[in-house]
Amino acid sequence: MASAQITDMLNGMITTLNLDLGDRSYPIHIGPGLLENKSLYVPAIRSSQVMVVTNETVAPLYLEPVVNTLQGYKIHPLILPDGEQYKTLETLNRIFDALLQQRFNRSCTLLALGGGVIGDMTGFAAACYQRGVDFIQIPTTLLAQVDSSVGGKTGVNHTLGKNMIGAFHQPRCVLADTNTLNTLDNRQLAAGIAEIVKYGLMFDAGFFSWLEQNMDALLRRDTNALVHAIRRSCECKAEIVAADERESGRRALLNLGHTFGHAIETGTGYGTWLHGEAVAAGMVMAADLSARQGWISTQDVARVRNLLKRANLPASAPPEITVDRFLDLMAVDKKVTDGGLRLVLLDAIGTARVRGDFDPGLLRETLDPALVLSGS
Ligand SMILES: NC(=O)c1ccc[n+]([C@@H]2O[C@H](COP(=O)([O-])OP(=O)(O)OC[C@H]3O[C@@H](n4cnc5c(N)ncnc54)[C@H](O)[C@@H]3O)[C@@H](O)[C@H]2O)c1
Ligand SMILES: [Zn+2]
Repeated sequence: MASAQITDMLNGMITTLNLDLGDRSYPIHIGPGLLENKSLYVPAIRSSQVMVVTNETVAPLYLEPVVNTLQGYKIHPLILPDGEQYKTLETLNRIFDALLQQRFNRSCTLLALGGGVIGDMTGFAAACYQRGVDFIQIPTTLLAQVDSSVGGKTGVNHTLGKNMIGAFHQPRCVLADTNTLNTLDNRQLAAGIAEIVKYGLMFDAGFFSWLEQNMDALLRRDTNALVHAIRRSCECKAEIVAADERESGRRALLNLGHTFGHAIETGTGYGTWLHGEAVAAGMVMAADLSARQGWISTQDVARVRNLLKRANLPASAPPEITVDRFLDLMAVDKKVTDGGLRLVLLDAIGTARVRGDFDPGLLRETLDPALVLSGS
């Protein structure tokens, strides 16, 4: 087949949605083969100076296709070490060093090629360099494609807290190439699926049902299923971010399962559970508490648990975290500063609300691994 025909065929599978933020609006392109599609990059790049920031794992897989596609630009690749432990100010400085050594000016563009770690760090570098330059997100993990690359939160970790140093800085476009997911390991894929389930659970009952019907297709990385799931997830996130860019209200709904999940991540020691795994167990706990309150049924909890289990995700917290320890850890993660613990809880599958009016005794029951809710 001629290459023009192949391009046409692939273009047919690309779907694009727009994140509507006035003059900071940008397109999110989703589909197979985007890395090699120069026409998607060109409108987002203002000058010939382009730095591709990636890491040691992703570079051997995807740096060459990106560099080849962008022939004609002055491309400088920067390959960083891989891992959350490198999401630091020290690594950020390496990006600034390279930008200054290469004499990059204010109209340059940074490309973030990798998972959420690379995306957050590159976005923050772009927010700071010369008081703000352009950047493009090319997320290569499922989690980054459905969550971290969209919405403009960027930053690095501090030894005293995760994501504590950062800025809001929106990318000029997002290229979510579903082909890159073929090299992702099963655990990372499942962690991304947890965030996808979150959108259905908090926002869209129809999408939750679609996930129940199509989980097997997602797990075998069927392109059409992936494109649909990523698109619907990005639509949900885009709608919430457009309404509340700086998280003063509705954006907090995106934390469904996360207060429980962060407690699990900290309680087990960072890195033992993947973030998405902890969020999966956290969503079951949010559903469990909602059912104990009588806001949803025990059958609803069973649906949440079963869907996550099918994705090989954990559906309960590790038993070694005691109830009191859990409560301590959750208090640290409080989403508000007015004293009370507020949680994202369910009114139904597909409808969530941030609320503090739950019964603390029922929360203790949810946190107690010995007290499994009957019927679920
Ligand atoms: N900005 C936001 O709104 C937001 C939202 C959620 C999460 N985050 C951040 O995102 C980060 C987590 O992102 P993540 O889950 O993508 O982790 P990650 O970036 O560490 O990627 C996971 C692993 O997969 C590797 N990898 C990436 N793409 C690959 C591919 N196509 N094939 C094979 N391996 C590949 C990475 O090198 C890494 O080893 C955290 O730092 C978190 O704080 C940010
Ligand atoms: Zn998350």
